[in-house]
Amino acid sequence: MKRILQFLLIPVSLTLLLAWNWNPSKGNMTLDQLYTYKADSIIALMTLDEKIGQLNLPASGDFTTGLASSSNIAEKIKAGSVGGLFNIKTAEKIRVVQKIAMEESRLKIPMIFGMDVIHGYETLFPIPIGISSIWDMELVEKSARIAAIEASADGINWTFSPMTDISRDPRWGRVSEGSGEDPYLGAQIAKAMVKGYQGDDLSLNNTIMACVKHFALYGAPEGGRDYNTVDMSRIRMYNEYFLPYQAAVDAGVGSVMTSFNEVEGIPASANRWLMTDVLRNQWGFDGFVVTDYTAINEMIDHGIGDLQKVSELSLKAGVDMDMVGEGFLITLKKSLEEGKITEKQIDDACRRILIAKYKLGLFDDPYRYADPERAKKEVFTAQNRKVAREIAAQSFVLLKNNNILPIQKKGTIALIGPLADNKENMAGTWSVAGRFEEAISLTEGLKKAVGGKANIIYAKGANVVADSLLESRVSIFGKPTYRDNRPAEVLIQEALDAAKDADVIVAALGESAEMTGEASSMSNIELPENQRDLLKALLKTGKPVVMVLFTGRPLALTWEEENVPTILNVWFAGSEAGDAIADVLFGDVNPSGKLSATFPQNVGQVPIYYNHKNTGRPLPEGQWFQKFRSNYLDVSNDPLYPFGFGLSYTNFKYGELKLSGNSLKGNQTLKASITLTNSGKYDGKEVVQLYIRDLVGSVTRPVKELKGFRKVLLKAGETKTISFDITPEDLKFYNSDLDFVWEPGEFEIMIGGNSRDVKVSKVDWKE
Ligand code: BGC
Repeated sequence: MKRILQFLLIPVSLTLLLAWNWNPSKGNMTLDQLYTYKADSIIALMTLDEKIGQLNLPASGDFTTGLASSSNIAEKIKAGSVGGLFNIKTAEKIRVVQKIAMEESRLKIPMIFGMDVIHGYETLFPIPIGISSIWDMELVEKSARIAAIEASADGINWTFSPMTDISRDPRWGRVSEGSGEDPYLGAQIAKAMVKGYQGDDLSLNNTIMACVKHFALYGAPEGGRDYNTVDMSRIRMYNEYFLPYQAAVDAGVGSVMTSFNEVEGIPASANRWLMTDVLRNQWGFDGFVVTDYTAINEMIDHGIGDLQKVSELSLKAGVDMDMVGEGFLITLKKSLEEGKITEKQIDDACRRILIAKYKLGLFDDPYRYADPERAKKEVFTAQNRKVAREIAAQSFVLLKNNNILPIQKKGTIALIGPLADNKENMAGTWSVAGRFEEAISLTEGLKKAVGGKANIIYAKGANVVADSLLESRVSIFGKPTYRDNRPAEVLIQEALDAAKDADVIVAALGESAEMTGEASSMSNIELPENQRDLLKALLKTGKPVVMVLFTGRPLALTWEEENVPTILNVWFAGSEAGDAIADVLFGDVNPSGKLSATFPQNVGQVPIYYNHKNTGRPLPEGQWFQKFRSNYLDVSNDPLYPFGFGLSYTNFKYGELKLSGNSLKGNQTLKASITLTNSGKYDGKEVVQLYIRDLVGSVTRPVKELKGFRKVLLKAGETKTISFDITPEDLKFYNSDLDFVWEPGEFEIMIGGNSRDVKVSKVDWKE
């Protein structure tokens, strides 16, 4: 009866009520209450199928991942069975699709359009691990702001970013998509990204809704193998992995994506503790939760039920939207009929999605974000590309420099390597909207920079990897590696010929873009052997060699550190990569990036991270092996390059660490200051890092934890005093009851230019 009434009511009320910008005279309502009220008014008019339809998120078919692909989308939109669509590109196309919803579906509810705008839209910025090496939150936010402006101009109003999965395992291919190993740095970046995407007003046509992912713990799969099991204590989750997700929630992120992995034996997409207890009840998240791609269906393979069962579990856990798999669409009605779920659970999910659409202003104007004229003017602009170039140069990390860099714009430069003359791979992984062919390759960048003042000779010298099968797996998604099938020796000889008259050799080596990213885990994280052979041959010439390292993960570069005089890590820097690298190679920009993840000596040390526990048998400082101590027989405990590490063309000298007091009480503030001198010849930026160690706790505490940082510019010869204010807030951690507390006692305060080289002072902090 209720249904029939609804149908009778709708045609009359449609034009008035469902113009959707109807405002009830509810003067004292907050915006959230108003949107809830409006969403509920719509829900009252919806059929069960239409409500379930809002929970369905198919992929556009333009770009799909995973195994499933949605079909008959237009028909489903007309039937009211689609809440949104993702990875469909261009304002024109999105208008066409939105028009179907607005003109041919019964309730004319606008759709939300999502996309993986991960590190830029068409103007691509460095991959996230590169962005996280910048340590300048204004620039991080700016990259997200530009991404939002471009994406929104082209019809997108929702991005599946930021990815804030902490990872301590470089075998995992998706380290490239995150902000590294540290929860504090990750949290700052999460906040900056959410702010950049969402701005202060989500309803503006140039802000888009962010989606923090992958909740939770996706970055900790066993063995670094993608999608693999995660098993972790809650205390570790709270202290070491949750902070960045929570920071995104605190910053007002509009949506959250579940992860593929299990947590405590229950896949995240069915994990009520995660999606409801932690996310909504403890953190106060009030947006909507979307699954990752077919994550509901994958719970069949996880072994927790058939499609109906896993869909039921997912809805009950607190998931609102089903990405691609259509488990909700196919089974929820049946589950309701069988009394396994309630209509209220469906209404709750539907309401959250409708509210998101209100927040985005889609009910006011469903085409707000899809303006082909705006797209023409605001996407891939010269100005955006200029900013991308500046940001890219800030993300590079100088790992070693034996006085070779910067090089001069004169003489002959041999540019050698499989990544030297490749535009498409500059984009890096997860760059769905990018214009790969228009990216600036290193060859182009160098040639432009020298402008005829130097001679640039190029030779490929080696393929990305010797194994053609492996190469075919990592030469995908529009990022070819242009395999050269001639024998390796011939390629090397060609490179040596090219380098014969060179004054300096620039060797562009490393990974191809798709050697990291989703489902790109590696068990060997060294430079591919054929590339190392090339490097050996180049080094043998006795000429200065600069290794320009392309990578999406920390690599084990022990051999290179020992043998190559200069290494500049450039990650995958995006559309302006070649220009930005040239800026740094020639010294127009002084490198200032710092690692957000530890580089191990070898893969056997993994997981290796700076904020580890002391253990009961720590190795005494300065030693590398002692029997019955926590260490390896065959390698020291030291990383190759520690967290926070990165060199500059200039030198920074740290003075003594000064504390405003050594004995504090309660809520007092401690000021920690240090003088920093640029003692070299170049102006340069340094990231001054503050670490704290809680010496005695009710639970064991890490040997140090990042608690603050500042990126400062110092002119050559200049000295500055850098200070940090520390309060008990900075001393807090989750204890064994999972209460967030600080405990009085002794603390070490440390300041330095990386996590290893720090000045230390002690403080006694009483209750
Ligand atoms: C990835 C997500 C991504 C989604 C949509 C999945 O395979 O894990 O990070 O947002 O696809 O493209």
